[in-house]
Amino acid sequence: MSVLPEKFLLPERTLVGAGRVKELLAECARYGRRGLLVHGRSLAAHGVLPIILQNNPGGLIMAAWEHVGGEPTLDDLSALLAAARKHRADFIAGVGGGSVLDLAKACAGLFHAAQPPQAYHQGAAIETPGIVFAAAPTTAGTGSEATVNSVLTNNATRQKKSIRDDALLARLVILDAGLLAHCPQRTIAYAGMDAFTQAWEAFTSRHATWLSDCLGLQALSLIGANLEAFYRGASAAAEPLLLGSYLGGLSFCMARLGIVHGICHPLAVRYHVPHGYLCGVCLPHAVELNREVVGPKYAQVSQALGRDLLELIRHLLVALDMSSPFRGQALIEKDAIIQETVGAWSTKANPKTITAADVAWLLDRLFGG
Ligand SMILES: [Fe+2]
Repeated sequence: MSVLPEKFLLPERTLVGAGRVKELLAECARYGRRGLLVHGRSLAAHGVLPIILQNNPGGLIMAAWEHVGGEPTLDDLSALLAAARKHRADFIAGVGGGSVLDLAKACAGLFHAAQPPQAYHQGAAIETPGIVFAAAPTTAGTGSEATVNSVLTNNATRQKKSIRDDALLARLVILDAGLLAHCPQRTIAYAGMDAFTQAWEAFTSRHATWLSDCLGLQALSLIGANLEAFYRGASAAAEPLLLGSYLGGLSFCMARLGIVHGICHPLAVRYHVPHGYLCGVCLPHAVELNREVVGPKYAQVSQALGRDLLELIRHLLVALDMSSPFRGQALIEKDAIIQETVGAWSTKANPKTITAADVAWLLDRLFGG
């Protein structure tokens, strides 16, 4: 195994600690005078938005843009881009969950782009670097603050995929566990299982390196030890969970993912099940599928968790009230789901080479009970 990936990127500055989101605008002042703050509904509802905007020691000219909710789409991105260009923003700050961060990130990356977002969603390279992106997550889950991709859905084609470019990486990350204080219980569960899945898939990816393994194993350990506690209300578990999510994000950005993320997108666009929910219910089957191929890594993770990995995952799914959303449902467009899964970017990094029969087996487990 290589020590380092052939290439890896890390955010320029990462601030860690409760209350540090108040430093967001002071930090952003180094990147320009005009900024757009992208956020979700809850930030305004819980009074965090005015606190951020009031802490403006740099005399920045700020505007705010609220994501109305739901999984982010290219239509959302087009509206956000128009607002950011109209404001003549020098930087985009995203404070929110994965959807908000992915939108803010894509907006910053495509700020100077010559083509419409659809072109980059189809794989076109970004010709001109965008503007600075700063990220402060309010959920412990997607790892979006650590990665160079933005997952967006094209409503017209039902395609859910990433815009991926090195230029999308956040320059500034603020990991403030206080931002998780109002996170709904369902979101804690779904985001947490997404983060856990991402860390496992990076740790066992065929592109794993010593560095991504260090990050991924620590992420698994932090998330495994704190997810249920935070779900049950232990606020002290928020920071380790947030750190686990970030480290998992860094690791999968280096090592990529696996079959769970490969099958999630084709299922999400057909069944509209939240991403983290899908990850959680797919994970135990994917671990079974890969167990023989990952060698000592299964035992290594179990040792770090202090418990057998599959036993912990099954326990978490019960504890977080995440039974399969597919049980009893009809499987639609099976051949298309299989084809899209086998061809997915994430599936190609899976430790076991995934065949159509493997995906069919996984679908049987998900839909058959
Ligand atoms: Fe994910």
